Formats: sequence, C-alpha cells, structure tokens
Amino acid sequence: TRSLLGLKQLDADEILSILDRAAYWEQHVEKVHDKLKGKFAANMFFENSTRTRFSFEVAEKRLGAEVINFSAAASSVQKGESIYDTVRTLESMGIDVGIIRLKPIGVLAELAERIKVPLINAGDGNNEHPTQALLDLYTMRKQFGDIRGLNVAIVGDILHSRVARSNLYALRKLGAKVSFCAPTNMVAPELDAPYISIDEALKADVIMMLRVQLERHEKGMITSAEQYREQYGLTVERARQIASHSIIMHPAPVNRNVEIDDELVEHPQSRIFPQMENGVPVRMAVIERAFG
Ligand code: CP
Repeated sequence: TRSLLGLKQLDADEILSILDRAAYWEQHVEKVHDKLKGKFAANMFFENSTRTRFSFEVAEKRLGAEVINFSAAASSVQKGESIYDTVRTLESMGIDVGIIRLKPIGVLAELAERIKVPLINAGDGNNEHPTQALLDLYTMRKQFGDIRGLNVAIVGDILHSRVARSNLYALRKLGAKVSFCAPTNMVAPELDAPYISIDEALKADVIMMLRVQLERHEKGMITSAEQYREQYGLTVERARQIASHSIIMHPAPVNRNVEIDDELVEHPQSRIFPQMENGVPVRMAVIERAFG
C-alpha cells in the first residue's frame, strides 16, 4: 500500500506514471468501474474544500469504492478530539484508504508514521498539495505535450502556498523552468527559485496565478485588494501581453478582481475549469496507486 504525502519524495518516472494512468482514466471516465469494489475510502477534511473534496469523492465512486465523508465541523473534533484519535478511529472501523486535508504543519508526516492504511495528502498546511500539482502537470502536458523545457511563472502568495511548493518540486523533476513572482512579504525564503517581475512573468508559457490566502495572513499583509490587483493581479490589460500559445492557470477558489480579473477566469487561454475537470482522472490514478 502506498501513501502520497508529497511530490518532493517522488521521482520523475513515478510522477509520469501517475499522469499516464490519469490519461487512461480520462478515456474511461464516463463509467463507474468495479476496481475498488468492497473497499472503503474515507475523505477526512479538517480544513474546508470544494474541488479537492468532491473530485476525490467522484474519483472514488467512479472506481467503485464505498465512500465515507468526514467533516471536522460536524465531528467530535468540536469536543476536543485530536486529529490522530480521529484518524485512528476511522482506521479502526476498517477504512482502506484515507484522504486527508489538514491545517497544522507537520501533523501529516507524524500521522503517516502511526497509521497503517495509506494516506493521501489533500492539502497539508502550507507544505504540499500533491494532487493539485499533479492535475496542474496533467493540464500542462495536455496543452504542450511535454513538460520538459516549459517556462512556468507562479505568481502571488508563494509564502502560504502548498500548490506552489508541490508544483516547484514536480516541475523541476520533469525539466521545466520555474520562476516566482510575489510581493516581498509573500516570498518563501526557503524555496530556491528565481523571483521575477510581473511583466517578466507574463512572458512565460504557463502563468499560474495563486489565491491571496487571507485566512492564513497575519493582519495587514495586504493594504487593499485594489492595490494588490494593480501590482500583482492578472488584469485584462496585462493579459494582452501574454503570448498566443501561453495558458493561464489558477488552482481556485479564485478571488475575482484581486489576483485575476473576472473576465479572464473563462478566457480562451484560461485552463482554470479544465484544471478542475482533470482533477477527477488524476485522483483516480492516485487512489488506484494507493492500492498497489
Ligand atoms: N484547489 C483546491 O484545493 O480547492 P479546494 O480548496 O476547494 O479543494
């Protein structure tokens, strides 16, 4: 059984084999399969989610698994039960795989040492969000055929972004060039990637905008949404500079008219909704991998 805690630990071949398998599932995505018949998948979200949570559920159901949804807000976590005791409780009931999203940093690595069923990281504080990066890679591969040599600019709140981290680790392994663009107070000093200006970022093959994560901010990190948009937002005006072969990405949810203008979310060069669509076959591949 195999957990997926992050992409930092995976090699290029392993990443590519997940993407290949996702391509297979994309071709077979309209049907419900019996691959995981009789297996129980638990979605354990200790932090809110729409895309990740529901695309995992769709993926599990398409693979024929029985699905258990755990939401921290309606659980004994509200009585003070710990994350470990909660996951251990579900494990003791016989789940076969756990999909888990957490806010506190370091807890997932600890859980993985103590829990025997495979765990899949569905968002781990500001550490990693491997299935998001895999669906991002899948989207890029679909667009460009090969990731090697691609120029990817990731723009915005790098400091708080698990999406930026997972993408950086995986894109590098696959031979892409990754640059960051961020206000000085949203830079992640521990990540070794060049920082470029917003004008420079517009020249990339992939312009990946990040959500300003207000819920993770110290007070006063951004002066105003208008000022952020003016300095770092993908505005309609800036989008005119993007090359015709380039694509716009964003993991969503989107703060419309903050990091990206409303009109650009469904722009012909935007892949924001295709990214969500690709999340299902990618997560099918990841869940299948957990069963060996
Ligand atoms: N992109 C992403 O992880 O979205 P959710 O928080 O809605 O799952």
